[in-house]
Amino acid sequence: MVGIYLSGTGNTKHCLQKLLSILDKDAKMIPIEDPNSVDAIKENDEIILAYPTQFSNVPFMVRDFINKNASIWQDKKVFCMTTMGAFSGDGTGCAARALRKHGAIITGGLMVRMPDSVCDNKMLKKTLEVNRQIVRDADEKIEKIGNDMHNGGKYPQEGLSFFAHVAGLMGQRLLFYNRTTGYSTKLKISDACVGCGKCATSCPMQNLTISDGKAVSNNKCAMCYRCISTCPVKAITLLGNEVVEQVRFEKYVG
Ligand SMILES: Cc1cc2nc3c(=O)[nH]c(=O)nc-3n(C[C@H](O)[C@H](O)[C@H](O)COP(=O)(O)O)c2cc1C
Repeated sequence: MVGIYLSGTGNTKHCLQKLLSILDKDAKMIPIEDPNSVDAIKENDEIILAYPTQFSNVPFMVRDFINKNASIWQDKKVFCMTTMGAFSGDGTGCAARALRKHGAIITGGLMVRMPDSVCDNKMLKKTLEVNRQIVRDADEKIEKIGNDMHNGGKYPQEGLSFFAHVAGLMGQRLLFYNRTTGYSTKLKISDACVGCGKCATSCPMQNLTISDGKAVSNNKCAMCYRCISTCPVKAITLLGNEVVEQVRFEKYVG
């Protein structure tokens, strides 16, 4: 078994780590942007594919990865796991359908609520205590489901049904469909940027470069919010115009 994941602010990475610690302690976890991720899928029969929900959809970066590597999925047993700030409808189903087209066998789906990674929108901000409780609830859910999977072979099917599909479409997917059909060109970098390069180093798409002492986006943003939450001077925004509070999973443990 191998876990392949995209994670912007650490939520998905944590959830995958927790699930794998129950299912298979020896299983490797590889970020989707790591060049070894393709070989790891080729070498394993069972894969957990984990990613954050974006606009009730699978992030374009993950969809792109699935389709660009179409030949590696044939007969692979794939369990889809998504994390979400509130609601994803069929956040797992979106990847599952793409994977099935390439011959994968979908073993199940799991959707876990975690702190919202969108940190430049006041309406999505929650208190530290609320986010901590969300993480505790998520851990509890994963532990229960992980044990059911490990001991009884009972795999959840969250987000894979027809009803979940309709809920996902009506939730946000149709409304924001145009934001999920490609990489984003909307990343904004303010004059506050000091050109430290932390964003460029952290970006899973290598979308950011430093030019004339300032960060520049090359319009291949995966919307993961990693750079936005890492920038030491809060110079980067995407959906909003001001960073309310940078989000990192580690803040919400305890
Ligand atoms: C661009 C964007 C769109 C999002 N859309 C949704 C959504 O439709 N529904 C939802 O519940 N959460 C949504 N979220 C929240 C994330 O899915 C959630 O915070 C996730 O746990 C982040 O995981 P990560 O830290 O591994 O990146 C969105 C986040 C981003 C950055």
